[in-house]
Amino acid sequence: MINRVRITELRARKGRGEKIAMLTAYDATMAALLERAGVDMLLVGDSVGMTVLGFDSTLPVTLDMMIHHTAAVVRGTERALVVADMPFLTYQTSAEDAVRNAGRLLQEGGAAAVKLEGGRPVGHVVRRLVEIGIPVMGHLGLLPQSVHQMGGYGRRGTHPGEIDNLLADAEALQDAGAFAVVLEMIPADLAGRITSRLEIPTIGIGAGPECDGQILVSHDLLGLFDRFVPSFVKPYADLAGIISTAARAYVGDVQNGRFPQATSPASTARSV
Ligand code: KIV
Repeated sequence: MINRVRITELRARKGRGEKIAMLTAYDATMAALLERAGVDMLLVGDSVGMTVLGFDSTLPVTLDMMIHHTAAVVRGTERALVVADMPFLTYQTSAEDAVRNAGRLLQEGGAAAVKLEGGRPVGHVVRRLVEIGIPVMGHLGLLPQSVHQMGGYGRRGTHPGEIDNLLADAEALQDAGAFAVVLEMIPADLAGRITSRLEIPTIGIGAGPECDGQILVSHDLLGLFDRFVPSFVKPYADLAGIISTAARAYVGDVQNGRFPQATSPASTARSV
């Protein structure tokens, strides 16, 4: 019997003051490695559009792409709670569309929960999904799916009106039944205020240390995606450098005839 982290455990963790560690994952191999390191939750983020698929925003990501990557992450893991992002236009149109699309992420992708962006404007959608048994994680602050409306990827929650809106949005998501809320790129003191007001856990990204948990895009943490690295990211490795060095060595070996070396046919089979 597979024993995954449950959404009910997360609120208890907040109550005990135990921090929650979450990362993004997009494929089975990486997901297995991240789970082995002890992460509680894996987000199949629509950031896959930029980190893996080469788009320059999350907007082109489709539901079928998300199902494909979610299913891979679920296949690669046993313990982590897998949350799948609902991509652009799969929940903004109506609660009925949201139910159908979130349902596919659970049924075909194997996710245990979905994440969607926004506060009060999507409150009715969150409520409907939760009513029919689909756990929802909210997402406030910087909302990448609204990049054009927001005028870029800058920090949010810096003006008094915006602060009041974020506080009201966070409470609305909790009232609608969200089990947790991501706070992206907002000031640490505001994230602290939201965290102490809510009973559900807050998961911060560029939102300071007072959140109940943290999430990073794994490609940023590992130094894999070097086209743009947000200022709040702590790089724990330089995999881009390691991969380039290894690939350069291989190219050199092939060009100079050092690889492959002559071997007997029996020793060329790949072990599995
Ligand atoms: O898509 C994503 O990776 C996200 C995180 C940045 C929270 O939404």
